[in-house]
Amino acid sequence: MFERILLSVDGSEHALRAAHTAADLARIVKPQELYVVVVYDPIPMYLGEPNMQIAISSRKGEAEKILETAVQEVGEVPCPIHPGILEGSPAEAIIEVAKTSECDLIVMGSRGLGQLAGLLLGSTSQKVVAHARCPVLIVR
Ligand SMILES: Nc1ncnc2c1ncn2[C@@H]1O[C@H](COP(=O)(O)OP(=O)(O)OP(=O)(O)O)[C@@H](O)[C@H]1O
Ligand SMILES: [Mg+2]
Repeated sequence: MFERILLSVDGSEHALRAAHTAADLARIVKPQELYVVVVYDPIPMYLGEPNMQIAISSRKGEAEKILETAVQEVGEVPCPIHPGILEGSPAEAIIEVAKTSECDLIVMGSRGLGQLAGLLLGSTSQKVVAHARCPVLIVR
């Protein structure tokens, strides 16, 4: 049923729960591929060099750690895992990579690292639910 699943993670507790759900689902439906992505915000050009390169490597380093933890939490699944780090607006990048990789399911948390208490859905999950072309599984 689901051949290519995209799990999006941001280092939050919700995203870790999404990782467990994506892994459980993958063990049941046995997809062909599992993509795991982290998106980091673009670095403004006005920072200039060398600050821009320093900022880029720091964000990439953080993203790598988030990705590594998520892949560990996914554990053993019966398909290849493709980890990816993208730069851009999180929702747009998630929607775009789901489209280009022909994913038929996106799994993500309801909330992330945002601080606004009381929100049921964060802005990233809201935008992805609203604009993705495939089903989206939101994990609470
Ligand atoms: N930068 C990101 N890269 C990959 N996935 C992300 C990213 N940001 C959020 N997500 C995914 O979206 C889910 C919901 O996060 P979201 O950003 O919508 O909530 P929030 O951080 O609480 O709210 P907001 O960002 O609007 O302040 C996360 O659990 C994660 O699965
Ligand atoms: Mg967020």
